[in-house]
Amino acid sequence: MKKMLLVLVLGAGLLSGALLFAASNAQEKTAYDEDAYGPKAPIVWVKPVRSVIFEHKIHTMDAGLDCGSCHDSLFEMENGAAEKKDDFTMATLYKGGYCGSCHDGSAAFASNTRCTSCHIGARGHARLNSQGGTAVKSH
Ligand code: HEC
Ligand code: HEC
Ligand code: HEC
Repeated sequence: MKKMLLVLVLGAGLLSGALLFAASNAQEKTAYDEDAYGPKAPIVWVKPVRSVIFEHKIHTMDAGLDCGSCHDSLFEMENGAAEKKDDFTMATLYKGGYCGSCHDGSAAFASNTRCTSCHIGARGHARLNSQGGTAVKSH
């Protein structure tokens, strides 16, 4: 009897887990609002090194930042503008420029840690391109 109850409880747990998963998946597909949270496609820079990724969703929808925390004081609203500048380097980030304005170990994780959160490398870039096709622009 006890065993049967356990099976029932486990079964119900699994089922609701599956339902929740399906619901959050569906939401993921419909809920992202580009007007409210910025472009959906990740920004990928290939200069000076290939490849660094930036996602609006993580910063706006998830972390709650508004557009004005980055635009236009730190970044222009133009894909690839920053990588045209000579000072788009780690040295500038460490001094609090660009991403380093927040990624300083207090507002967000520090720029001298977790390299691979931002650096997805050449392989990561290829993987993104094969998933999204035109979603990732390279310049
Ligand atoms: C945490 C920083 C940050 C926040 C917050 C942010 N952005 Fe951006 N945004 C960027 C960066 C970085 C780029 C790329 C700039 C570059 O490549 O020089 C960018 C680029 C853009 C672009 C150009 C994309 C393209 O494909 O040309 C648009 C449009 C944009 N942002 C809109 C928004 C809007 C709208 C919001 C608020 C809802 C927002 N951004 C909030 C950092 C941010
Ligand atoms: C206005 C502040 C701000 C700026 C500017 C900013 N970020 Fe962030 N970023 C955050 C916050 C806040 C988080 C979420 C908290 C955390 O992960 O430390 C975050 C999270 C991230 C994450 C998620 C890491 C993970 O796996 O959870 C990545 C990657 C990232 N940022 C990359 C960048 C890059 C690249 C730039 C520059 C192009 C940038 N950010 C500029 C505030 C900022
Ligand atoms: C918060 C995001 C972020 C983190 C964390 C980060 N980087 Fe970077 N990195 C960038 C950005 C943005 C650029 C400039 C764009 C590009 O080169 O594609 C860059 C460029 C570079 C460059 C080329 C320019 C230069 O400064 O020589 C090197 C090398 C580099 N990063 C190494 C690292 C290493 C090593 C770590 C970890 C200790 C690291 N980065 C962590 C965002 C980050």
